Amino acid sequence: MLNWNNPVAECNESDPITRHNVIYDNINQSNSSAIKAHTSKSTNLPEKNKSIENIEMGAARICVDDKRIINCRADLNQLVPFKYDWAWQKYLDACANHWMPQEINMTADIALWKDPNGLSDDERTIIKRNLGFFSTADSLVANNLVLAVYKHITNPECRQYLLRQAFEEALHTHAYQYCIESLGLDEGEIFNMYREVPAIARKAEWALPFTQALADPDFHTGTSETDKKLLKELVAFYIIFEGIFFYVGFVQILSMGRRNKMIGVAEQFQYILRDESMHMNFGIDVINQIKIENPHLWDESLINEIQTMIRDAVTLESHYAEDTMPNGVLGMNATIFAEYLQFIANRRCAQIGLDALYPGATNPFPWMSEMLDLKKEKNFFETRVTEYQTGGALSW
Ligand SMILES: [Fe+2]
Ligand SMILES: [Fe+2]
Repeated sequence: MLNWNNPVAECNESDPITRHNVIYDNINQSNSSAIKAHTSKSTNLPEKNKSIENIEMGAARICVDDKRIINCRADLNQLVPFKYDWAWQKYLDACANHWMPQEINMTADIALWKDPNGLSDDERTIIKRNLGFFSTADSLVANNLVLAVYKHITNPECRQYLLRQAFEEALHTHAYQYCIESLGLDEGEIFNMYREVPAIARKAEWALPFTQALADPDFHTGTSETDKKLLKELVAFYIIFEGIFFYVGFVQILSMGRRNKMIGVAEQFQYILRDESMHMNFGIDVINQIKIENPHLWDESLINEIQTMIRDAVTLESHYAEDTMPNGVLGMNATIFAEYLQFIANRRCAQIGLDALYPGATNPFPWMSEMLDLKKEKNFFETRVTEYQTGGALSW
């Protein structure tokens, strides 16, 4: 019988599945016909979504060892006890660095954009193409989180971060809309670019099938095949979409800011880059934790597939670099970006435990590396918090 005076006593005595059934058995022996009916029905359910199932009266308290990133059987409505402190810390860091697009002064950008001699045609192309790509890309990421990823990540502290990330993606879309509105651009032209400009369309088209697979109501994790599918999807969005596809645009816009051009747009992008860097690092931690908990998934065939995905992404992003700067501008050109993307791809591989795909690739933009360096990320956050509270601008 369950010890009602000390329900946690069950905690250390058996594995989660056995304990789960023991508790149901005990409840089923109680005098409550209502609870009996409910629990006997529940025990027959496959593990689908522990956060919206009926309440299990008398179920044991949460044991931290039962928590898993995927396929967890513990109650997902109880945030604590924490198992993944890194996820909770990222949630706290993200909240501490809250910002809003309207806080950034766009006056200088508006004057420069309206001045017929203010910017070259190539510089205008960079601004418009990047606003075109990012204005819909962040909606794709947000929709992927909410409609595909969230329900398959079975850990409350990770979900807490996912909810924060989803809000940040909304803020990013807001920031792009704010830039487009401030500069008086044709919003239909910019927002529809992902359906008109091939270099932008190809990146979205590459990512969408991963979302669609996970969003399918018949998709469930729990087998090697579906768990690998989930891992590939996490690589597609956190490592590739947010970790490679965003980086040509970030470098281009931040380069303009460093040259004192479009400084409001560049400042928006700098805040977004900081958020995105943390999103990617969260995704890397999630992927690596799933690998630790399910080592059988990370086999040669999955590694080969992921390496192919990363190579394809480098090719697509190189085409994007060519499309956005056909003539070269600001001391940058598509060839330099090809090198940069190989450097980034190697870094992403290392972050999930894979060998470099492009040995010897170097970083032509060391100033970006400084911004993205994990060790400096912390300092960057601390700086931002102070500046946010005093309303000051970021320094370049
Ligand atoms: Fe974003
Ligand atoms: Fe993101």
